Amino acid sequence: MTGTGRVASPEWWHSAVLYQVYIRSFADADGDGHGDLPGLRRHLDHLAWLGVDALWLSPVGPSPNADWGYDVADYCAVHPDYGTLDDLEALIAEAGQLGIRILLDLVPNHTSDKHPWFEDSRSSTLAAHRDFYVWADPGADGGPPNNWVSTFGGPGWTLDDASGQYYLHNFLPEQPDLNWWSQGVRDAFDEILRFWWDRGVAGFRIDVCHMIVKDAQLRDNPPATEDDPFVMQMFGQRPFYNSNQPEVHDVLRRWRTISAGYDPPRLLLGETNVEQLDTLASFYGSGTDELHLAFNFPFIEAPLKAKALWDVLERTEALLPDQAWPVWTGSNHDVSRLATRWAEGDPARVRVALLMLLTLRGTPVLYQGDEIGLVDGNITEDELRDPVGRRFWPYYAGRDPERTPMPWDAGRHGGFTDAGATPWLPMTDPRVANVADQRADPRSVLAMTRRVIAARRRSPDLQLGGYERLASPDEVWLFRRGESTVVALNLSGTPHDITLPGRGGSVVVGTDPARDASVPGDALSLGAWEGVVVAGV
Ligand code: GLC
Repeated sequence: MTGTGRVASPEWWHSAVLYQVYIRSFADADGDGHGDLPGLRRHLDHLAWLGVDALWLSPVGPSPNADWGYDVADYCAVHPDYGTLDDLEALIAEAGQLGIRILLDLVPNHTSDKHPWFEDSRSSTLAAHRDFYVWADPGADGGPPNNWVSTFGGPGWTLDDASGQYYLHNFLPEQPDLNWWSQGVRDAFDEILRFWWDRGVAGFRIDVCHMIVKDAQLRDNPPATEDDPFVMQMFGQRPFYNSNQPEVHDVLRRWRTISAGYDPPRLLLGETNVEQLDTLASFYGSGTDELHLAFNFPFIEAPLKAKALWDVLERTEALLPDQAWPVWTGSNHDVSRLATRWAEGDPARVRVALLMLLTLRGTPVLYQGDEIGLVDGNITEDELRDPVGRRFWPYYAGRDPERTPMPWDAGRHGGFTDAGATPWLPMTDPRVANVADQRADPRSVLAMTRRVIAARRRSPDLQLGGYERLASPDEVWLFRRGESTVVALNLSGTPHDITLPGRGGSVVVGTDPARDASVPGDALSLGAWEGVVVAGV
């Protein structure tokens, strides 16, 4: 039995459903081909109807877009492509009236090379912001200071001719890494946190949260071995010194203290893209003093197979400190969408995957389009926008396939932008899946997602109850939530007969709308890829 510990004082996010908005691809109000804040405001009714509690907005700040917003040129403003600070404040207010909170994306690992801090920093070795970034003399051979490589390929260092020193970038050369040993950087981010939290922003998703502090001595990374994960072998090294240093926890504790000064506390949701679950667990600190939620990449990367997924979930639950709360997602703007990666475009698999995310113990995060089973787009070489796709094409198409725009209706450009405009990335065919058609169809994936969210809202068991796995065939994930709710997920194409504990109960929601009203005894026959939630067990 795992995950039965009660959270002493649940905050709003423990029982919430979060939803990621990739703003550039969500909805375009002014017909220039990319999404914006007024476009998002127009569709708040969809999100309220769906029943989500909070939106995480991918970066909205001014950016030269070398990495589509993740190269920030100003942390306390709005990119003119998306609107104004007034638009953002209006969004916070309007969403608030609908019971929806707004989370922003904080990018503390690096800035844009066009950020005034970096422009000052590179202007002179004596500049006020010189120590805001990681500068170092060339190595003994006159090359880069050490062997660190960029996550996006190539060396992790770029020579600045003016000073003869190199600066560090764990991503693009246009994304110089901040130096988190600098007190000035720490103080500046305290102000950024307060700037947004004072304006009613409910928290942050924290970009590459595990990476921000680097080894102060800039030691070489050790070589990868053949037992290491594929990515490390590809880069030829373990990111031992340019990532996940113990001092990152000091920064998280500092932010948690600031968060605790607000009512309600502001949510710290980390992008903790680490391989090992014990490392993941460490980002929760004592359970009450670091991140509130830490994204679980081993879960995202597991196949849609019952044993593989319950293994990650149960090991995670066993490792989390007391009071820590998991978070589950299957898609985001960096990984193939769950409808493609987990479900191979099969709507039956999409349904059971969504039912799973929304019924596990923890906070689910849907990515825009998950609710209609949106699949990845097809991108040709000349349509590529992602710098990573451009670099690795044709071996890797980058992240554009999961960033294609949201189809709102079956019309031209799916109602994402004006019929005469050109969407910044090509649309998937909006006739295959779109919001309007699915809203009108009670048997659609969207209608099911909404029913599951509504069932979750009505059920303290599903929101905050413990998790206990029950005996089942290997292809079925059968678990109890809380006192009297059982979830049965057939993660296979083979029908399975299972035995419920006790004498059955009533099906409150499931992947098959025809079954919703039925009341089984203790024997339950699950169709291929079928999932049900049974209450009163
Ligand atoms: C995170 C973001 C990703 C970005 C990278 C560098 O992983 O999710 O989109 O490219 O950080 O900022």
